[in-house]
Amino acid sequence: MKILVIGGGGREHAIIKKLAESDRKPELFCAPGNGGISRDAVCVPFKATDCEAAVDFAVNNKIDMVVVAPDDPLSLGMVDMLEKAGIRAFGPVKDAARLESSKVFSKALMKKYGIPTAAYEVFSDSEKAISYLKRPEQRFPAVIKADGLALGKGVIIAADLKEACEAVRGMLEGGMFGKSGSRIVIEEFMTGPEATVLAFTDGKTVKPMVSSQDHKRAYDGDKGPNTGGMGAISPSRHYTDEIADICMNTIFKPTIDALRAEGIKYKGVIYFGLMLTPEGPRVVEYNSRFGDPEAQCVLPRLDTDLIDIFEAVIDERLDEIDIKWKPEAACCVVIASGGYPVKYTSGYEITGIENAERCGTVVYHAGTKTENGRFYTTGGRVLGVTGMGACLEDAIKLAYKGVSEISWTDSRYRSDIGLK
Ligand code: AMP
Ligand code: GLY
Repeated sequence: MKILVIGGGGREHAIIKKLAESDRKPELFCAPGNGGISRDAVCVPFKATDCEAAVDFAVNNKIDMVVVAPDDPLSLGMVDMLEKAGIRAFGPVKDAARLESSKVFSKALMKKYGIPTAAYEVFSDSEKAISYLKRPEQRFPAVIKADGLALGKGVIIAADLKEACEAVRGMLEGGMFGKSGSRIVIEEFMTGPEATVLAFTDGKTVKPMVSSQDHKRAYDGDKGPNTGGMGAISPSRHYTDEIADICMNTIFKPTIDALRAEGIKYKGVIYFGLMLTPEGPRVVEYNSRFGDPEAQCVLPRLDTDLIDIFEAVIDERLDEIDIKWKPEAACCVVIASGGYPVKYTSGYEITGIENAERCGTVVYHAGTKTENGRFYTTGGRVLGVTGMGACLEDAIKLAYKGVSEISWTDSRYRSDIGLK
């Protein structure tokens, strides 16, 4: 069986390593992949957003299944194009991927179907948005979000009216997030611990994976700018069985039912970004794919063949399969280039990966290339080091043992992943 995975980060490496465990011995391809992925799959040099190239490659190479992992190609309709060419693809079609690619769409869906989330209003005119913020009942901080995709950076938590007005003007007048910010959502600020639940769905059945928690801020103690994610743990420390039941009944099932009621068949992974507020769990955001780095600590815990799950989703028979998880906890620590997420230098040689693997950690590559058997940095997030253990503390300890073996010039990581 030939499988092509679209993307080239740590998440894609985690998907590929899990697919490689299958008894069905798949032949794996990845586009564009990266240095580390090239040890586990054949890397094909086209961009993750190149839908035509994906269709051509899949048709010409008789690929049996394409897994579209990142948000951009999903929002461009890569799955629609593959299906049209007769290729089986895992991931939501363009219309369904709006759950992530348009906050205006996802907020309206939640409002219409009573799915708990922050109260909000939509604006495309900055003067109207600013008058709204000046209402006497407006509370601060206020949350200002760009409608469209913005590399996870389209959210501004404004401490006061001045910051909120700057954010509004920056997005609606200054083109801060380009077209993605031509409409904005202003929403109520929620409080409470955050948790991520990824779920498989075939449009009818929804099967949540084990919970996880990302660490989005750049520095220890949740300080500094937002990043793509500096590390994750699974399970979340806050997501109890009781909360899981509430989420199933008030969020997960209602979301699938709402999409179906709107005539949208959503097949793939839904990422539920949750805030466990004093009033109960609420949706912070949906994504239309596996999280990165959540996938690097959730997928290692999966104990069912991932190909079987992907096929069950595509064939709409997810209700027929039993998905098993390992009881062990997992922790993934991201090692980034110094300066990430702002400005950083690439091209440094990485040492110690084999030693980290010898410690028992799995090293997922996010931004690396390989030359003559050596690895070099190519991006902001470079590696994700995952440790597993009987409890979270053991998993965290092991992950950091692996991390301590690895180095390059100006590398950087958070030292408090999973500790809060
Ligand atoms: P998002 O890109 O929508 O996940 O937002 C990034 C981060 O901003 C989230 O992980 C939260 O920490 C924070 N955030 C987003 N929306 C809200 C909100 N309504 N209230 C409080 N924090 C929020
Ligand atoms: N870790 C957050 C995301 O994948 O969007």
